[in-house]
Amino acid sequence: MRGIILAGGSGTRLRPLTSVHSKQLLPVYDKPMVYYPLSVLMHAGIREILLISTPQHLDVYRDLLGDGADLGIELSYAVQEHPGGLAQALLIGREFVGDEDLCLVLGDNIFYGHELPTMLRREVERLDGCTLFGYPVSDPERYGVAETDEQGAIVSLEEKPARPKSNLAVTGLYMYRNEAVDRAARLTPSARGELEITDLNLTYVRENRARLVNLGRGSAWFDTGTHDSLLEASTFVQILEKRQGIRISCIEEVAYRMGFIDREQLALAGKRLSASSGYGQYLLELAGA
Ligand code: TTP
Repeated sequence: MRGIILAGGSGTRLRPLTSVHSKQLLPVYDKPMVYYPLSVLMHAGIREILLISTPQHLDVYRDLLGDGADLGIELSYAVQEHPGGLAQALLIGREFVGDEDLCLVLGDNIFYGHELPTMLRREVERLDGCTLFGYPVSDPERYGVAETDEQGAIVSLEEKPARPKSNLAVTGLYMYRNEAVDRAARLTPSARGELEITDLNLTYVRENRARLVNLGRGSAWFDTGTHDSLLEASTFVQILEKRQGIRISCIEEVAYRMGFIDREQLALAGKRLSASSGYGQYLLELAGA
């Protein structure tokens, strides 16, 4: 499976934070936001990843993450000229995806949960059609909302419904069989001029081939698109990390635990960040260096 991180967009709700900076590079406590979705793909066992961003920001991502060799993965980069919608990621990534299945994650979505890595790998294995991930929220009318039958098949999908049929918000993580790329190519822009991911997902709902995995109350999901949600995500990460003495979505640690890099490479990553950074120190301790 190939992975795509969509890290473009305009970030209008976060201005002036995003007047110059890319939203997905803003800090979420101790690391850039993009580390979180990247670690999700790595936990799913995905090692070939395309990062898509705006023409003005793409090089900064390249400077930060390089070709992925330090993480034992292959990273490539592509530009989205204008924010033409989430489904456009599949068209931009068409060549990169080739004949493989794909997993798309939005660069501003943060997932955390003890069971998440196991669950992700299970869903990669059983993928047929498309798999979406739902999170129970108290204000579903603000999100895309999915209604499912007892087996978890999606029976309806609505964008910001006035009367939501469930409390399950559709999160920014999507798994598709390869044919989704052709389906994305057949989409027409919506009234707001974007290729809508919901329109792509609805093609699977109509065929009864769209599944929803409920992330449930044992996990956390944040979309960091507003000032408040950005701060809340940072606070969540800070509290958990300080209390447990761990780091969440530390990409070097994930690479090590997934067997993508060895102990020496982990120690090297720690040294590069310097032991005066708590993050670097954490890597050094993990590597026993
Ligand atoms: P949004 O939060 O819907 O849009 P945005 O980031 O432009 O922010 P705002 O609404 O404040 O203007 O986008 C969700 C994610 O998808 C986010 O990580 C940005 C990314 N995105 C793209 O990369 N390209 C796009 O065409 C769109 C619509 C979003």
